[in-house]
Amino acid sequence: MSFDFDKVNNRRNTASEKWNVKENELPMWVADMDFQTAPEILEAMHKSIDGGIFGYQFVPDKYYEAVANWFEKEHNFKPDTKWMLFSTGVIPSISAVIRHFTDVGDNILLQEPNYNSFYGVIEHNGRNVTNNELIYENGTYNVDWQDLEKKLSDPQTTIMIVCNPHNPTGHIWSKDTLTRIGKLAKKYNVMIISDEIHGDISMPGHGYIPFSSLDSEVAENSISLVSPTKTFNMAQLHASTIIAPDSNIRTRVERALSIDDQIEPGILAIDGTIAAYTKGHEWLSELKQYISGNRHLLSDYVLKNIPELSVIKSDATYLAWIDCTKVTDNSAELNDFIRKETGLYLAEGTKYRGNGNQFLRINLATNRSRVQDGLERLERGIHAYLNNK
Ligand SMILES: Cc1ncc(COP(=O)(O)O)c(C=O)c1O
Repeated sequence: MSFDFDKVNNRRNTASEKWNVKENELPMWVADMDFQTAPEILEAMHKSIDGGIFGYQFVPDKYYEAVANWFEKEHNFKPDTKWMLFSTGVIPSISAVIRHFTDVGDNILLQEPNYNSFYGVIEHNGRNVTNNELIYENGTYNVDWQDLEKKLSDPQTTIMIVCNPHNPTGHIWSKDTLTRIGKLAKKYNVMIISDEIHGDISMPGHGYIPFSSLDSEVAENSISLVSPTKTFNMAQLHASTIIAPDSNIRTRVERALSIDDQIEPGILAIDGTIAAYTKGHEWLSELKQYISGNRHLLSDYVLKNIPELSVIKSDATYLAWIDCTKVTDNSAELNDFIRKETGLYLAEGTKYRGNGNQFLRINLATNRSRVQDGLERLERGIHAYLNNK
């Protein structure tokens, strides 16, 4: 490996949300990585800062070309640059689209368990969360098609959010599944928002399907949100791209974003994104191998030392979803206990709703020695919890 993912970076006292924890604590919860971003990106950012002038900036064509070329190389699909809009983040974009495409009291459909911020963004905007709960069987999640059609056919349902790939489970939806969802949504006039922020991080040999690459009748009823921020550990960049193949939808999204003032890039958003998308392929390829190694370490360790748990098999994201059914049906309580007992701080599945109360989510985007430390703490925590029961 030419990049050193084993390096232990100290993020304490850097106002890091993740690392705002006690001295003895090991945070493996929020979805950011402990790795420094790719050197090529740092170099481009240094160059921008060294220019010393930070006036208003428009989004140049080469930004959109970088997005399109990245997709062609990484995901075998080249979206048209005309379909793209810049925005200052995925969740702010979803919020703007919900506010401008739907009415207060509308239903926004999603599949629980799901990324917790979706609930906030829907409910804070006065819309209802409608749940097409995923079916959990034999250690994997599938769509409940009958229920999906029922929820989509409710005239009050106006948008469905598809988390593609899925956070927290790391599941990659197949082309058939996405197409079937897309066709049903189209039938009932429900627009799809495909959140693809985790799309670049799939395990070697696996790839996700961009929603905008599906047949045009389905793709044109959707918008997809992509960003280099998870991929390259740049949450502070506040840059994302909306891919909207249909011109009417695109015009409305553009208006929504501009009304909400979300179209002006911050200081490094453009140069950082272009560098990531043009020069980041090799770094990402090595990152994925490293994460895959961490995933194997987790699965092997749990199998051998914590047989009360099972790790859901998944092929995307740096997050792992751990089934704790044999230990508890209150993962919030379990998570608090493990934190107090061992200092390991995971994400409790309860906040993702659905059957999340039986799960913990662990973030594996850290150096291997910390993963090993986290697993030893997890083993201690689970066994102490069971002994305490
Ligand atoms: C599925 C998903 N969407 C969006 C975000 C956040 O995106 P942004 O920081 O661009 O709002 C996250 C972060 O964890 C996420 O997991």
